[in-house]
Amino acid sequence: MTRPKDTPPNGGEMPPRRLQPALLAELLPANVSCALERLPTADSPQLPQFQFPEEAAEVASAILKRQREYASGRNLAHELLLAKGAPPSPLLSGAKGAPRWPVGFTGSISHCDGLCVAAICSTDSHTAIGIDVELAKPLQEKLWSRVLVPSEADRFEVLGERGALLAMAHFSAKEALYKLIASEFGRLVGFREVELRFSLTKGTFTAHGGATEKERARLGDVRGRWRITPRHILTTSFWAAN
Ligand SMILES: CC(C)(COP(=O)(O)OP(=O)(O)OC[C@H]1O[C@@H](n2cnc3c(N)ncnc32)[C@H](O)[C@@H]1OP(=O)(O)O)[C@@H](O)C(=O)NCCC(=O)NCCS
Repeated sequence: MTRPKDTPPNGGEMPPRRLQPALLAELLPANVSCALERLPTADSPQLPQFQFPEEAAEVASAILKRQREYASGRNLAHELLLAKGAPPSPLLSGAKGAPRWPVGFTGSISHCDGLCVAAICSTDSHTAIGIDVELAKPLQEKLWSRVLVPSEADRFEVLGERGALLAMAHFSAKEALYKLIASEFGRLVGFREVELRFSLTKGTFTAHGGATEKERARLGDVRGRWRITPRHILTTSFWAAN
């Protein structure tokens, strides 16, 4: 019997933390490193492990689940940055929520119920990257009109359950895309401002839209990849450095 690609050989829980997990690595260019960690359930009393008091302070008033997911993302990013030779330092959030990466590096973090992922690279190879993870569930129909443009919705409507899962993959890819473009565009970009065109055979996507010529050109430079596994939807987007 073949096992699903993201199921570990023992068929049980994934190891708690993994660097370069194969499935995520496949969705990223070779010089981007990545890691994932399984998160405890929301009601777990497990305390977050912070590496820097400044990071603990940033989420001190948040609920335990949020503290754990924040700490997990930071710890994965620290591990990847250390492996790339970056000196250890707190990774605090900027005013709009994006982590402030050390000079010379960029990255992205995402969490969903039970899982946290992070990816890091040098700005010599990529000016920005964006990643997102969601549970592999259909996107509720009431959300379609908020997330999808009509051409996207038309493509999925005829596909039944598979279409609803692809709709969720679009939601995820737009969040990954937002993390990529947010700082360069300097504004909140709405879900319906962008049309994604997925290749169903290659697992890639391109992005189309933008309010100005410059934004349209930048969206045209985006490269994206997506994958739906039995448990998760993973999406990535990246800009190669010129
Ligand atoms: C910011 C946003 C994309 C985060 O997505 P999410 O599914 O809520 O949460 P995720 O767990 O996947 O990602 C959260 C992480 O994103 C990162 N993040 C937050 N704001 C960010 C921003 N402005 N730019 C880049 N990364 C950002 C952070 O690392 C955060 O984790 P942390 O706070 O623990 O460091 C989402 O909340 C949002 O505001 N979306 C609206 C805009 C949008 O998606 N438009 C789509 C059209 S392009």
